[in-house]
Amino acid sequence: MIGGRWCSVPTDSRAEAMLESAETPGAAKTDPILVVDGFRRSFGGVVSVDVPHLEVQKGIITSIIGPNGAGKTTLFNLLSGFDRPDHGHHFLEGQDITHWRPHKIARLGLVRTFQLTKALAKLRVIDNVKLAAGSQRGERIWLAPLPSSWRSQERRVDQRADALLERFGLAHMRDQYAGTLSGGQRKLLEFARALMSEPRVIMLDEPMAGVNPALSQTLMRHVESLVGDGLTVLFVEHDMDLVMGVSDWIICLAQGKVIAEGRPRTVAGDSKVIEAYLGTGYHREHDDASGAKRDTQPTKQVDQ
Ligand SMILES: Nc1ncnc2c1ncn2[C@@H]1O[C@H](COP(=O)(O)OP(=O)(O)OP(=O)(O)O)[C@@H](O)[C@H]1O
Ligand SMILES: [Mg+2]
Repeated sequence: MIGGRWCSVPTDSRAEAMLESAETPGAAKTDPILVVDGFRRSFGGVVSVDVPHLEVQKGIITSIIGPNGAGKTTLFNLLSGFDRPDHGHHFLEGQDITHWRPHKIARLGLVRTFQLTKALAKLRVIDNVKLAAGSQRGERIWLAPLPSSWRSQERRVDQRADALLERFGLAHMRDQYAGTLSGGQRKLLEFARALMSEPRVIMLDEPMAGVNPALSQTLMRHVESLVGDGLTVLFVEHDMDLVMGVSDWIICLAQGKVIAEGRPRTVAGDSKVIEAYLGTGYHREHDDASGAKRDTQPTKQVDQ
């Protein structure tokens, strides 16, 4: 499936947006939604993220690949406010959001899911989703005497939460405790929760890890539908068939640095990416037309 799409081709505007970008680390994008400048984060002297400049094009799926410990999750943590950089800044549509708290960043439109799902087991599925709604009018002190205002807000939250459960095939689990969901259903719940605040950018950290192939196809269709809705998707994944099938653009990290970025074919053929991550076996297996079983995960990567 190298260079092909999972279930659709990029729209013309998405393809056009990419054509104008150079395929070099830190290249400028035609319409960047997220910009990183001079990001650096170390833990005990070990540099986990060192990104002088990075731009993420609006309205496409950008995948971040790289070996275990490359800094992918650390970068997500920094972008979403769950961690702070030692140096540098990042901007969401021109707004400097460095050092903002996660809920404030989410309110501005950037949300993330976690490598390990975070559903609250002792809350009902519907309440898990409702809890992820952005700031609610009823919580604002100056609107508290206006019950009609918070009631209509509450109704909208209820309707949106139910619509999202429907969209992700969880409506029948609405009133069950989240703890009773299967691993795959929890992944779907994560998607629903992330969309509750009506984000502009969604960052997915290994949403396919540990799910069976049928469910991963379903999840990929959901990922594509997010871009169809106008969202920008940042996607961390180790399964290269999924990455090659769904991505408009790929960024490869190794030892905290961006070593390559570009269209899927370019990055998959980049010698630095092959050396640091894919290995030469990846191309031998994918160029083999015999249809033999492929090992699509460059190294043992799933850590949940
Ligand atoms: N809180 C922390 N304390 C100490 N070291 C950390 C912390 N978070 C990340 N690191 C280190 O930073 C480096 C990057 O880790 P990170 O989890 O970002 O990698 P990753 O690319 O997401 O890997 P994986 O593919 O295994 O999920 C690793 O060396 C890791 O040990
Ligand atoms: Mg990670």
